[in-house]
Amino acid sequence: MIHEVIGDRLMAAARAADLFIEKSSMNPQAPVGLATGSTMDGVYQHLEQRGFLPESSDAFALDDYKGLAEGSENSYFTELSKNFAARLGWSGRLHVPGHGPYAGSHGLALFEQTHLELGPVSIQLLGIGTNGHIAFNEPGAAFDSITREVELHPQTRQDNARFFADPSQVPTHAYSQGLATINRASSLVLLALGERKKPAVLQALESPGPLTPLAALLDHSDLTLITDFQL
Ligand code: GLP
Repeated sequence: MIHEVIGDRLMAAARAADLFIEKSSMNPQAPVGLATGSTMDGVYQHLEQRGFLPESSDAFALDDYKGLAEGSENSYFTELSKNFAARLGWSGRLHVPGHGPYAGSHGLALFEQTHLELGPVSIQLLGIGTNGHIAFNEPGAAFDSITREVELHPQTRQDNARFFADPSQVPTHAYSQGLATINRASSLVLLALGERKKPAVLQALESPGPLTPLAALLDHSDLTLITDFQL
């Protein structure tokens, strides 16, 4: 693992965007792996500023909520359609667990199969939750997990309530790539910004185990961790 500390939030996001350009350009036909959450806003903004248009015709999302209305502002399909596809002028296929052909348990199996067949993704962007979740793999998620329906941890629902009109509207379940799915990427870039993320990162590095999902990725041969705090 390579760890880079970049004290300025915007510059840290810009560094992740630069790695996205570098890694996806090394294998331009391969799909790319996208992430959501406020941390990723800066990454997509920087890609737009650089005028970057991914050559790949396929992009895989890590996860999405279960049970939101089609077109909901809170769905990660909507978020990535706006923040990535529309912003960069990219018109490829966006594969999102639980969405379109990937709805239902057969759909989730199809997502996993499509990810295997079209992959590996050249780069997978990652954030981390304050409780250590990666995508929606909550603490305790199996390290060999694949794409499936998951139950959200109360901490995750509380953290993400800020995006919803009312905390009761935060879904209780979601669809998520598994830790084994994520590990198939040719490269991983994890961006952890803000002191609130520090305990989760520290715990995974100092006492890796079943309750620290990041630990499942630490043996990856091309993992870059970018933080805006010292560890
Ligand atoms: C959500 C996503 C995660 C993301 C996390 C962090 O829960 N499922 O993939 O890493 O949020 O989000 P933020 O960047 O808003 O802190």
